[in-house]
Amino acid sequence: MDLRSMLFVPGDSERKLAKGESCGADALVLDLEDSVPGDRIAVARSMVREYLGSHRDRSHQQLWVRINPLSTDKALADLAAITGGAPDGIMLPKADSGADVVVAGHYLSALEVREGLQEGSIRIFAVATETAPALFALGTFAGCSPRLAGMTWGAEDLSAALGAATNRDEKGELEFTYRLARSLCLAGAVAAGVQPLDTVFVDFRDSEGLRAESRAAARAGFTGKIAIHPDQVPIINEAFTPSTAEIAHARRVVEAFAAGAGTVALDGKMLDMPHLKQAQRILSRAAAAR
Ligand code: COA
Ligand code: MG
Repeated sequence: MDLRSMLFVPGDSERKLAKGESCGADALVLDLEDSVPGDRIAVARSMVREYLGSHRDRSHQQLWVRINPLSTDKALADLAAITGGAPDGIMLPKADSGADVVVAGHYLSALEVREGLQEGSIRIFAVATETAPALFALGTFAGCSPRLAGMTWGAEDLSAALGAATNRDEKGELEFTYRLARSLCLAGAVAAGVQPLDTVFVDFRDSEGLRAESRAAARAGFTGKIAIHPDQVPIINEAFTPSTAEIAHARRVVEAFAAGAGTVALDGKMLDMPHLKQAQRILSRAAAAR
């Protein structure tokens, strides 16, 4: 099932871990990277391990862990500390290409065997646009590993990596480079047959802004969005769940094609195969959200 909302929870915060559980997010991403201060990493690893162990039933909410980038000496220690908790998956930040997913997959294989887990059971979500080399490698995720479950993008770390003073133009819109990263991530994820997940909306008190951005992402083809605050979760879930009107229209489109024609007319408009595929996707997402 597609994950509509993945809520980031700082891995060293007891209160936030408790809150995340009840907020309705399809998945929590227990964070060991940027939201955890350097001197709290050991505490965070053991809290995350503990949380995973005490939340074995994942039927209502998946549990993922964001580890530190493979380019740091923290990544392996993160994995070694938390694999025993059998997370649903790992979020891999600052991935340069599909090759990084392969490396993380090898580490996971060794640790799964050590922990008596089924090999390959822990999936990977790549944060695929946070470094300069990554922008040239969005096509390398396709076929890289059966563990790959999704890809997401980020504009904050990329602007730091590129030496930019800001990622916004005078009007407050994302600069072309970051919109390019968004589009390449979307196409790269679809090419890989995995979920494209839209990035964070940092202004967490602006619910109208979040709603507009989430709807735009859903229209563009993203299947979900990262949340950083529990209040964002219901807005995101709604935006990525087909509405009653969308479902009704999709049913009519599917019915219009039922006789077997490749091109049909509905309400004075021509519909062909792409419209049928869109309608079928809406119906299967609606079924999954029930
Ligand atoms: N996960 C779970 N619970 C969260 C949360 C999150 N990401 N963000 C806030 N909460 C909880 C708070 O603890 C508080 O609950 P409490 O009163 O029981 O403690 C409640 O939701 C309301 O929070 P609020 O006071 O509005 O926000 P805040 O000032 O405590 O936190 C942030 C604001 C941005 C620091 C916080 O949302 C956060 O840490 N977000 C995640 C950051 C992150 O992981 N970044 C890395 C990925 S980009
Ligand atoms: Mg970051």
